[in-house]
Amino acid sequence: MNPRPAILIARAVFPEVVARLREHFEVETNDTDEPFTPAQLVQRLQGKVGALTTGSERISAELLAACPQLRVVCNIAVGYNNFDVAALTAARVLATNTPDVLTETTADFGFALLMATARRISESEHFLRAGRWNRWALDMFAGAEVHGSTLGILGMGRIGQAIARRGAHGFGMQVIYHNRSRLDAATEAECKARYVSKDQLLAQADHLILVLPYSAGSHHAIGAAEIAQMKPSATLVNIARGGIVDDAALAAALRERRIAAAGLDVFEGEPKVHPDLLTVPNVVLTPHIASATMPTRMAMANLAADNLIGFLTQGRALTPINPEAL
Ligand code: GLV
Repeated sequence: MNPRPAILIARAVFPEVVARLREHFEVETNDTDEPFTPAQLVQRLQGKVGALTTGSERISAELLAACPQLRVVCNIAVGYNNFDVAALTAARVLATNTPDVLTETTADFGFALLMATARRISESEHFLRAGRWNRWALDMFAGAEVHGSTLGILGMGRIGQAIARRGAHGFGMQVIYHNRSRLDAATEAECKARYVSKDQLLAQADHLILVLPYSAGSHHAIGAAEIAQMKPSATLVNIARGGIVDDAALAAALRERRIAAAGLDVFEGEPKVHPDLLTVPNVVLTPHIASATMPTRMAMANLAADNLIGFLTQGRALTPINPEAL
């Protein structure tokens, strides 16, 4: 009998999912959940045909050259900027991600962060916890209106559309968006979203939410020049990826109140956070948790496992990123 294929689960994953994978494969796990260094990852991948990865594992051309037995890498994330897709395709290694299962949950969180930012929830809670609340006041923590305001969305994929629906249908917001390609008329009508240029988006949004993928082309898509185009009363929310916003420029703008507030779930160089963001009061900071509900994280892990099992046992993955690799 052929030995069972060997796979690596690069970070801690739910036991149920590990058990499913053990039905098919020889499984190596990372019990400490400490992200591997690139050298450790190469070493752990020796002899493995598949891997379950997260955003903390960079799959580069160098790694692929050092791991010639690898055939498939399955990210437990919808974003895959940790993958060098061209190198994967050249090496004929299939890559997969976890779209759809996290769309609504992530849109919920985007809205939660937008509301927390606009309504100054973190800032006011810190004030209360510090024992500084000694009387009610008419203008205390008066924030920005959410209902009826203009919601700007940069990046109008599945998650952007789910946020647009919440804004338009739930909060009576005027929704404007900018995206590489314009949506078809039926989807625009369903989302009640109007396509505008990036300049118009920056100038008109009361709340600007970023939901675009990270790539060299979207690096610092929001920097000092873009922030300067926003309304001084505007809020900025990033649930997409660190690096899309120039965090140093944003911290300076928040300190000088060039925009009112920001809500950030993702950071350049995370889990490190730019020290200036930690000291400005008008920013809500969360540790990359937009898709973090137990049902959704379970669905993401199971979809990644289904991709691994499907590809290695039947040659078919459910959500491939680079089917041309085959
Ligand atoms: C999380 O950031 C994801 O890409 O799923």
